Amino acid sequence: MSPIGIDAISIYTPPYSLPLTELARARGIDPLKYTVGLGQETMSVMPPREDIVTMAASAALPLLNKNPELKNTISLVIFATESGVDQSKAAGTWVHNLLQLNSKARVIELKQACYSATFALQMACAFMKQTPHQCALVIASDTARYGINTPGEPTQGCGAVAFIVKQHPRLIEIEEGAGIHTEHVMDFWRPPYLDTALVDGKYSTRVYLTALQTCWDHYQEATNRQYESHARFCYHVPFCKMAEKAHERLAKESCSDNSKHALIYPKLIGNSYSASLYISLASLLENDPEDLSGQRIGFFSYGSGCVAEFFSGVVAKGYQQYMAQEWHHHLIQSRTPLSCPEYEQFFLLNSLKSTESYSTIDSAAGSFEFLGVEGHVRRYKKKQSGL
Ligand code: COA
Repeated sequence: MSPIGIDAISIYTPPYSLPLTELARARGIDPLKYTVGLGQETMSVMPPREDIVTMAASAALPLLNKNPELKNTISLVIFATESGVDQSKAAGTWVHNLLQLNSKARVIELKQACYSATFALQMACAFMKQTPHQCALVIASDTARYGINTPGEPTQGCGAVAFIVKQHPRLIEIEEGAGIHTEHVMDFWRPPYLDTALVDGKYSTRVYLTALQTCWDHYQEATNRQYESHARFCYHVPFCKMAEKAHERLAKESCSDNSKHALIYPKLIGNSYSASLYISLASLLENDPEDLSGQRIGFFSYGSGCVAEFFSGVVAKGYQQYMAQEWHHHLIQSRTPLSCPEYEQFFLLNSLKSTESYSTIDSAAGSFEFLGVEGHVRRYKKKQSGL
């Protein structure tokens, strides 16, 4: 059986951020609660000219620019999101159009809170096992909105990740064997008439840890692997302290800093829901000073509601040459820091609207812009300066 997994990866986050010290000052909270207690430094803020479609297309575009042949070989596009923009049409169909992909490629949208990108990855691996000359484009794109002056507010953020799944991958081979846990819990959900999540935050952190333990036990039974069989770990990161607590749980008394490079991007981007685990993977591969070739990474994916999965992958030899750390560092470092009132203005402008037509106000964006809605139809544009 040919190895299968992630062949290329690209992340995107919009060009604005909110320093959490600024948010703490505005809310009259000790900044250490956010920076130490939650482990977050800044969070990306989505401007009105962006949405999950523009973020997704901006994440995927560099992959196509690097390898123009992809347009002919992508036969499946899976878009994972919690923040869907339409009840019927898959967000991936807009991305398919913006990127001018092959009309023979299937497009589908998946939803299960922050878990869906993991199912997208597993589904893409299963499809691509049968098709040696094709590949799948998996995209996860989300904006985490909890609301102004709520406990969840400092754990917002936004971002997207795009990756190519194919045989003989150049980055990570996904291994057989996983631990799964599904349970009906109301820890986080969002009815169609709300644009902010309903969340029982403390309960969700407890369910996350219980699901981790159950998945880990099942994964160990299924694979006979121990903690020491893994060189690094990547977790779903609603906020960095959550991933650190998860890691402490698995590491027990072992050396526990083998997840820290996976948290460099999430600490700056904030929560990106379905994208967060895979932004964490990019963070690890691009910032870990050690050569991880041939090493096993453990992945924990958690989607409230809840579905969770622990699985693993082995890093390919020479993966470093296919990463884009300079570009990703630039994206994150060049964001414009907002004041709290400016962030609040963007937050309100991005609220769910029930009008059939509106235009978005001018604001910086990535390679694509969301112009607004005309007669119920969303309008997008590729920027002239787009990469
Ligand atoms: N200095 C350092 N740490 C401080 C502090 C200070 N001045 N003040 C508080 N803290 C610590 C607390 O001790 C706590 O750490 P602990 O959990 O290790 O004890 C942490 O900061 C958070 O404080 P807490 O009072 O629990 O925060 P909160 O009630 O305001 O809400 C969440 C925290 C995570 C529940 C909230 O942000 C939330 O609901 N987020 C969205 C849901 C979510 O992300 N769920 C995760 C699973 S997917």
